[in-house]
Amino acid sequence: MAYARGRALFTCKRRYRPCSIQKGLDMAFTKKTVRDIDVDGKRVLVRVDFNVPIKDGVVGDTTRIQAALPTIKYLVDHNARVILMSHLGRPDGTGFQAEFSLEPVAAKLAELSGLDVTFVADTYGEKAAAAVEALEAGKVLVLENVRFDKREKKNDPEIAKILASYGDVFVLDAFGTAHRSQGSVVGPAAYLPAVAGFLLEKEVDTLTGIFAAPERPFVAIVGGSKVSSKIGVLDHLIDSADTLIIGGGMAYTFFLAKGYKTVGTSLKEEDWVERAAEMLKKAEDKGVQILLPIDNVVADHFGEDATGEVVASDSIPEDRMGMDIGPKTEALYAEAIKGAKTVFWNGPMGVFEFDNFAHGTQAVAEAVAELKDNGGTSIIGGGDSVAAVNKFDLADKMSWISTGGGASMELVEGKALPGVEALNDAE
Ligand code: 3PG
Repeated sequence: MAYARGRALFTCKRRYRPCSIQKGLDMAFTKKTVRDIDVDGKRVLVRVDFNVPIKDGVVGDTTRIQAALPTIKYLVDHNARVILMSHLGRPDGTGFQAEFSLEPVAAKLAELSGLDVTFVADTYGEKAAAAVEALEAGKVLVLENVRFDKREKKNDPEIAKILASYGDVFVLDAFGTAHRSQGSVVGPAAYLPAVAGFLLEKEVDTLTGIFAAPERPFVAIVGGSKVSSKIGVLDHLIDSADTLIIGGGMAYTFFLAKGYKTVGTSLKEEDWVERAAEMLKKAEDKGVQILLPIDNVVADHFGEDATGEVVASDSIPEDRMGMDIGPKTEALYAEAIKGAKTVFWNGPMGVFEFDNFAHGTQAVAEAVAELKDNGGTSIIGGGDSVAAVNKFDLADKMSWISTGGGASMELVEGKALPGVEALNDAE
């Protein structure tokens, strides 16, 4: 693993992959962090991930803002002039679009942090430069959405130069965006001393640490709709976990790989049946237990109003589609989770957005939530599983919930994150 120092660095077959299975040695981040630099009176340019849900100018979930506070407060406490930049959503890059403005986010940051925060409705122009110039030590400035200019996504060096001119030092704390080679993520590191913030450090340490040194038994749970989008994750988990639990839409492709004649009208990826079969074989060869649903809640159509009936996995009627795992599977999965010391979970077990089909995901979430109080570790790897944990009000019960969706998956697959790569190495 490139970023985690210690045992995990040796004997790796693949680049950027933790490989030791011993436990007990702490992982250490191999990049410089804000602790390693003097920020007193300096202009510190910080890339955060404030890509939060906003509707009609009102910020919904504030998790990502809260997660950035330790770094921001540390910098303010150390008398830095803090310049924050982020993207919000996916604007078309042709200029200002009100629904993607970071102004409401800056206001929310001020409210949550109690800090002196100002917002400038500019990113790369004279207004932004003047606001940076006027910024006093111990205060925070939020720039407008970096994606209002299409050069950001193209990683145009001009963007990087402009942003770098605002700071004496660059800090990357946007874990959720660290997998993007974009101007504000990787660019300033070419011109300024570049270090990690606390969130980035913690995310990378946590998500690589569990694979390098999981306390065993290590149970991984992967759900979601498609085998194709999680194949790298499944592959890596079979290398590390003792048990791999599979749920969600992807289970039906695995049923076909197991030779079940039909999965009815359930989601399936015919082109991925062979790869799914290879995964089953790989797990068998490695002695990794794979758990697939033994029963399912099926319905005659996909919709909130649909009602479910329970059927065995090898007897799904031709005109029914799988919407959730069934009660026997819930019990089986809960039992496996109960016996774990480490759990990594990514992806729901069914269509949890619909109350009629949320039960399986809730049962798994509740089983995972027991772990922390019993001395185990539960890591939630971004995306829909985070939404599920929040829906069932279990967030406080988890050891770590990643703020990254795509970034956490890439890290779990063993890929390098360009944002992290660009930072200065620790000495
Ligand atoms: C995310 O929400 O996953 C990150 O903020 C990255 O956003 P993007 O997928 O639009 O680059």
